Amino acid sequence: MSDNKVTLNYDGKSFEYPIVDSTIGDRGIDISKLRDQTGLITLDLGYKNTGATISEITYLDGDKGELFYRGYPIEQIAEKSNFTEVMYLLLHGELPSTEQFSSFENNIKKYNFVADELKKLIDVFPRSAHPMGVLSSLTSALTAFNPKAVDVKSKEELDLAAELMIAKFSHLCAWTYRKTQGLPINHGDNSLNYVENFYKMAFRLPYEEFEIDPVVVEALDKLLILHADHEQNCSTSTVRMVGSAHTGLFASISAGVSALWGPLHGGANQAVIEMLEMIEKDGGDVSKYVAKAKDKEDSFRLMGFGHRVYKNFDPRAKIIKKAADDILGKLGIQDKALDIAMQLERVALEDDYFVERKLYPNVDFYSGIIYRALGIPTEMFTVMFALGRLPGWISQWKEMRLKGDPIGRPRQVYQGAEKRNYVDIASR
Ligand code: CMC
Repeated sequence: MSDNKVTLNYDGKSFEYPIVDSTIGDRGIDISKLRDQTGLITLDLGYKNTGATISEITYLDGDKGELFYRGYPIEQIAEKSNFTEVMYLLLHGELPSTEQFSSFENNIKKYNFVADELKKLIDVFPRSAHPMGVLSSLTSALTAFNPKAVDVKSKEELDLAAELMIAKFSHLCAWTYRKTQGLPINHGDNSLNYVENFYKMAFRLPYEEFEIDPVVVEALDKLLILHADHEQNCSTSTVRMVGSAHTGLFASISAGVSALWGPLHGGANQAVIEMLEMIEKDGGDVSKYVAKAKDKEDSFRLMGFGHRVYKNFDPRAKIIKKAADDILGKLGIQDKALDIAMQLERVALEDDYFVERKLYPNVDFYSGIIYRALGIPTEMFTVMFALGRLPGWISQWKEMRLKGDPIGRPRQVYQGAEKRNYVDIASR
C-alpha cells in the first residue's frame, strides 16, 4: 500500500485501487472497478466498513467520542445554539445571519398547517396504534397533499420541500400523540418558535389555558439538537437509499421513520425506560440484569448500551446525562428509573464484558428519563427522536440529490441452490 492507493494481489495479478481522502477521519478505498477487474465483490455485513457516500454534513469519531455538525462540536452547539438554527446549519452548511434565520423561520411558519383531510386518516387508526406506525403512514400520505415536494430537482425546489416537510412533520408528531390520548387535533400558533409551537400543539388541553414552560422548552430544544443528525446511521441510510431511486422527500422520510422505530435504533429510548421499569418491578437487582445481558444463551441486551461507531463514549450521552440531572432538579422530580440507570451504568462500566467490548451508555440511555420528567409518555419517545432527526434526514437527502449519487443497489454473495429444473407438484 502506498499513500494514495492500495494494491490487491489476486489470481496471480495485481490491481491498484485509489484512496479517497477525507478532511478528517476515515479515508476510503475506491473499489468501484473491483468487480469489473477481478470478478470479486466486497462483503461487509451491516456495512461496518463500508462508506456509502461522500458527505460534508456530520462528522463523528467513535474512538475520540467527537461529533461535529458542519464542523461545529456538538458540545458548543448544544450549549449555544437552538434547534431552528441547527436545522438551518445542517440544511445549508453555514450558521445563518440574523436575516437568514428570520427568513428561514418565517418560511416554515408559512406552512404551519396540515390539510384537514389528513385528520380523517388519523381517525381510522385505533387509539392503541403505536405512534411511530401512525407517523410513518401520515408522513407518506403527506405526499398526496404536497405534489410540489415529489419531483424536486433544483436547489430551490429542494429547499422549499425541506421547509414544507419541517413545518408539517411537527404537526404529524403532535397529532400522533393526541391520537393516543383521545385529544382533539390542534393547529399551529405562529406567535411561537418551532419547538414551542410543537409543544403547544401536542400538549395543550382543550379545557385550560396553555402556558409555555421555559424549562420544558429548553430541555426539548436540547434533546432535538442532540438527535439532529448522526451521519450514515440506519434510518438516514434508509432515507438516502429510498431517495436514490428519486422517490419524493416525504415518502423517503416515511421510510426513515420506519427504520428509526426499531429497538436497535431509535426505538431504544422506549426500550430503555421499559427495561428500567422492569428492573425496578423485579426488586431493583441491577446485577441480575447485567448477568442476563452477558449470557449468550439469553437474548436480553442492556438497552441504551453500545453503539456501532462510538467505542469510547457517546458525547451526546454525556450532555444528556447532565441535562437529565439539571431538569429533574429544576422540576423537583425524583425518578427511581434514574437511580436504577445510574446503578446500571456503574455496574456495567466496571464489568469486563462491557469494558472489553467497549460498550458505553448511548444517547438513548438518558433521553427517556428526560422525556418522562417532561410528562411525555413512553410510546412517544421515538417520535421525539424522529422530530429531532428530521433535519438530518432532509439534509442528507438533499446532499444526495444535489450531488447526483447513483441509485443504491448493493450486490450479494449467493449461497442458495444452483440451477435446477422445476418439478411438477405431483412428482415432488
Ligand atoms: N448489551 C449486551 N451486549 C451487547 C450490547 C448490549 N447492549 N451491545 C452489544 N453487545 C455485545 C454483543 O453481544 C457482541 O458480543 P460478542 O462480541 O461476544 O458477540 C458485541 O457486544 C458487539 O455487538 P454487536 O451487536 O456486534 O455491535 P453492533 O455495532 O452491531 O451493534 C448496537 C450496535 C447499538 C445495535 C448494539 O450495541 C445494541 O443492540 N445496543 C442496544 C440497543 C441500543 O441501545 N440502541 C441504540 C443505539 S444509539 C441510538 C441510535 O443509533 O439510534
